[in-house]
Amino acid sequence: MADMFRLLSPRYDLLNHLFSLGSDFRWRRKSAKALNFKSGDKVLDFGAGTGDFGLAVRKQTEVEITALDLVPEMLEKMKLKAGNDADWLSLVVADGEDIPFSDDTFDGSVAGFVGRNLFDLRQGLSEIRRVLKPGGRLGFLEFCRPENSSMKVFSWFYFRLIVKPLGNLLIPKKLPAYRYLIDSIEAFHSAAQLRQLFQDVGFRDVHTIRFNFGTVSLTVGTK
Ligand SMILES: C[S@@+](CC[C@H](N)C(=O)[O-])C[C@H]1O[C@@H](n2cnc3c(N)ncnc32)[C@H](O)[C@@H]1O
Repeated sequence: MADMFRLLSPRYDLLNHLFSLGSDFRWRRKSAKALNFKSGDKVLDFGAGTGDFGLAVRKQTEVEITALDLVPEMLEKMKLKAGNDADWLSLVVADGEDIPFSDDTFDGSVAGFVGRNLFDLRQGLSEIRRVLKPGGRLGFLEFCRPENSSMKVFSWFYFRLIVKPLGNLLIPKKLPAYRYLIDSIEAFHSAAQLRQLFQDVGFRDVHTIRFNFGTVSLTVGTK
């Protein structure tokens, strides 16, 4: 998985914007607004990648961001976007299923489009909860399987007519694994299953904010 993202890093942002038809900025912006972190909060950007979620939060409020990712090449892109004088940003190369911070460290966390990539999502969520302070909130943005039948039809067309053809066109042949990610979107949890998982690992006040007719959801939970 890390090798795949290392190879993908030069064109990750382009693919993201194309697959979402440019909506991914809006999803992260609206999510950042809904999470409403306070100035000075310490926020963990889990699976930060090239940083668009953490940067959307920082645009909203003057938080301190710790960006954690397995792949240094992805984090380097975030650093370039933030600028060299971004003293509010720390980069950490680590496995999110074993977060190298003590319990109760962060006021909040965001995780954008990383859930499907984790080997053990429950372990990743437990780790995020562990490093949050009591009262800290996680906003978990992810493609999810639609629950109602008209949205299932919409999603079927969206992935087969837009995402898959674009993926086949733009993803280098040496990256067949990325096609797995596209397939995995349809096999991932529904919003209700994600809420249940959040509750199972101990989050409370769990709720969903839906985007893109329910094919993308922000799951919010509080420690
Ligand atoms: C699809 S990208 C999402 C990036 C960013 N959060 C966004 O909103 O665009 C997923 C990122 O998760 C990272 N990742 C995958 N598994 C991970 C793990 N176990 N621990 C930390 N990062 C991981 C990948 O390296 C990649 O940068």
